[in-house]
Amino acid sequence: MKIVFVSGSVRSDSQSRKVTDYLAGRLNDAMEVKIVDLNEHRLPLYDDSTDGPWQEIWGPIENELMSADGFVVVSPEWDGMFSVGLHNMFHYVTKTKNHVMAHKPVMLVGVSDGMGGAYPIAQLKAIGAKNTHYVVSPEGLRISKVKEVLVNGEIVVDGVRERADYSLKVLVEYAKALKQVRDSDIIDFKKFGSGV
Ligand SMILES: Cc1cc2nc3c(=O)[nH]c(=O)nc-3n(C[C@H](O)[C@H](O)[C@H](O)COP(=O)(O)O)c2cc1C
Repeated sequence: MKIVFVSGSVRSDSQSRKVTDYLAGRLNDAMEVKIVDLNEHRLPLYDDSTDGPWQEIWGPIENELMSADGFVVVSPEWDGMFSVGLHNMFHYVTKTKNHVMAHKPVMLVGVSDGMGGAYPIAQLKAIGAKNTHYVVSPEGLRISKVKEVLVNGEIVVDGVRERADYSLKVLVEYAKALKQVRDSDIIDFKKFGSGV
């Protein structure tokens, strides 16, 4: 099983990346883990062009997403919205029609240095999944006051740490279960390439 963590902030020294590193370290050694940091891999603003520098940046990201069995998508809350980097990336996910996130589970994580963190989760549930066809795990993680919760790379609030571990365990079980769906002969992207 391979789980890919996507850190959605496009800020350097971002708290979302720190949360991502922490969560990636909590999966057991039997899992293959990769981190895609959208600040390190700056995709150009999506414009539907057929060629251009985006291909060199998108190719390695797409390969990681393609080989994943599940995802942890970590979004900062900016202006009450999920990350512009993730929004941009989802256009690339659907552009190439390789369906690299389709019928794979996503654990959603919202990060805020204030009392926020819920909006990114709600928005990613509502609008992220249509053409990407990703499947939202009901068990996500909201981290408000991130600098008080994550200290020196460790979650110091028991309830948040327990929720993080629980949500990761549930994600792994969804990853195992949904492989059966992807391996079935039911999926028909030729006819149903756009989700509802
Ligand atoms: C442009 C901008 C807008 C922000 N808007 C919000 C917001 O609406 N709600 C909130 O809780 N935090 C907001 N924040 C603060 C983030 O929660 C904070 O930067 C946090 O560390 C997560 O972002 P990061 O991963 O980029 O560090 C905002 C930050 C920036 C840079």
